[in-house]
Amino acid sequence: MANDKKYDEGTQDSKLLLDHDFDGIRELDNPPPPWLMMIFYATIIWSIFYGFYYHVFDGPSQEDEYNATMAEVKANMPVNTFDEANIALLTDETALASGQAFYASKACDACHGVTNIGPNLTDEFWIHGNKIDQVFKSIKYGIPEKGMTPFKDQMTDQQIHELASYVITKMKGAVTTNTKGPQGDKYE
Ligand code: HEC
Repeated sequence: MANDKKYDEGTQDSKLLLDHDFDGIRELDNPPPPWLMMIFYATIIWSIFYGFYYHVFDGPSQEDEYNATMAEVKANMPVNTFDEANIALLTDETALASGQAFYASKACDACHGVTNIGPNLTDEFWIHGNKIDQVFKSIKYGIPEKGMTPFKDQMTDQQIHELASYVITKMKGAVTTNTKGPQGDKYE
């Protein structure tokens, strides 16, 4: 036991020295600090509750929790109550002014005014009708095969409602640079 010389009687290390000796290698009984041990014991106690809760008493699985969260999100989603089959023409000046602003900001005039790509919207002739629900649909869903852009991804239903109301009430007879002749049927 030549190595024992390092640990003089009475020193801290000699008190910690374990009896076990392997090929001259000795070990000190040097436990981790108490705070670390407390955390370690706490995790063991926690795991007992955890195990019982989830495996014995059938606590919610990840899938259950996911489904519950999704159900909650769905329940809190704003419901689109807009009923496009039963909309009425807006006459309120604020709504019409808002519609006019959309007509400008969405560059409708690029096809319906400054160029003749789209039909004249100021005359009495309409290919797809000039009732509010018809004009609403022309704008919302577009007529892609004929070059009319669908605006449903760029505007809300309420905004399209205002825009369609503006097109019907304010554009009739307005001065336009669109020189297309009558297209479609005549609507008073
Ligand atoms: C890229 C060019 C283009 C743009 C931009 C465009 N339109 Fe059109 N639009 C057309 C074409 C082309 C038609 C004709 C479709 C057909 O012949 O069936 C049309 C048709 C329409 C109709 C139906 C007209 C009818 O006679 O029934 C309405 C209403 C209309 N557009 C409104 C709008 C509004 C409002 C905007 C802006 C938000 C707009 N369009 C932007 C090309 C365009």
